[in-house]
Amino acid sequence: MLRDAPWIIFLPLTLVDDTSIMRVLAIETSCDETAVAVYDSDTHQVTDVIHSQVKAHAIYGGVVPELAARDHFAKLLGLLCTLSEKVGYDLKTVDGIAYTAGPGLAGALMVGTAFAKSLAYAWDKPALAVNHMEGHLLAPMLLDVPPAAPFIALLVSGGHTQLFQVDRIGEYRLLGESIDDAVGEAFDKTAKLLGLDYPGGPALAALADKGMPIYPLPTPMKHAKNYNFSFSGLKTAARKLIESHNAQDKEIHANIAASFQKAAIETLLYKSLKAVHDTGAASLVVAGGVSANQYLRSELARASEDGRFKVYFPPMHLCTDNAGMIAYAGYTRLKSGQKDASLAIQNTPRWPLSSLQTNTC
Ligand code: KG4
Ligand code: ZN
Repeated sequence: MLRDAPWIIFLPLTLVDDTSIMRVLAIETSCDETAVAVYDSDTHQVTDVIHSQVKAHAIYGGVVPELAARDHFAKLLGLLCTLSEKVGYDLKTVDGIAYTAGPGLAGALMVGTAFAKSLAYAWDKPALAVNHMEGHLLAPMLLDVPPAAPFIALLVSGGHTQLFQVDRIGEYRLLGESIDDAVGEAFDKTAKLLGLDYPGGPALAALADKGMPIYPLPTPMKHAKNYNFSFSGLKTAARKLIESHNAQDKEIHANIAASFQKAAIETLLYKSLKAVHDTGAASLVVAGGVSANQYLRSELARASEDGRFKVYFPPMHLCTDNAGMIAYAGYTRLKSGQKDASLAIQNTPRWPLSSLQTNTC
């Protein structure tokens, strides 16, 4: 947890100089994407290069942590050279070097951290530890018309399903979260049962588009009087449904996929709208890999049609893991005067976003 991490200077995110132009380089290696990017505050654009390890892990049906770490190590330098060519200037001129310090796979994080801190040392630049989930949460800030705090944030990824109240950037008050599986994890596991390749979420969503949601599947905790979620019961019900049909019938599988997707998204929708309603928030920000889901996007767009609140998603290419969002998060921290206190190579594989907060629920 950040509170326990002595190597990070922790200051409130008050802006030091709002007019200064900055470029921040970022390294993202938390899981199975090796990514580098620069955020330029002058143009409000990211330039990024990404290498997906999907093929390397697909044969094992999921991410192999040791393989991920080794592949990050093999690819980072080449990606940095490609990024340098893409931006057209010397990367040594950036103002800071951000890196994902957690949450994520310990070995994979270690490779990115060591790489970023080595650059910071060699180029005499500040290093900036970034929380991966804060990166996701801030990705919609890279829209041409970004949301303004305060807002409600729904974070939906492979490891997290959380609702936050965001009063200002850098302060994240946890309202509720999944008590078991994350929604992305439930998509991935159900996809596997349907015989779809890893990573299953997008594949299940594509299959769902071809089917009809004719099977009633449970929406656990939907009506609980809190903001928590549960997806393991839905996953088990989907498994039983798949087993009971004992079939390779493509139409049945498409209908099961559509039914699963409808039930999973229904709970996300219900709890997010409850949070917006209860808090009177004017904006809902949705981020993390599952924010790429078109059904979620269209259902939320429909729910916000009456204009009571606005809904914001990240640009599509910044929904899943990328370094652009880490560069932007690093920029907000550098701008507020934060930087790592030392170049010691340490990171935080378990790092709750709510530990960045100053408020308590
Ligand atoms: O944020 P992310 O790239 O990595 C983590 O930080 O976990 O999220 C990955 C998750 C995976 O579970 C993946 O299946 C899911 O996001 N995902 C989707 C879609 N695209 C990615 N789930 C449903 N529909 C999608 N279109
Ligand atoms: Zn992620």
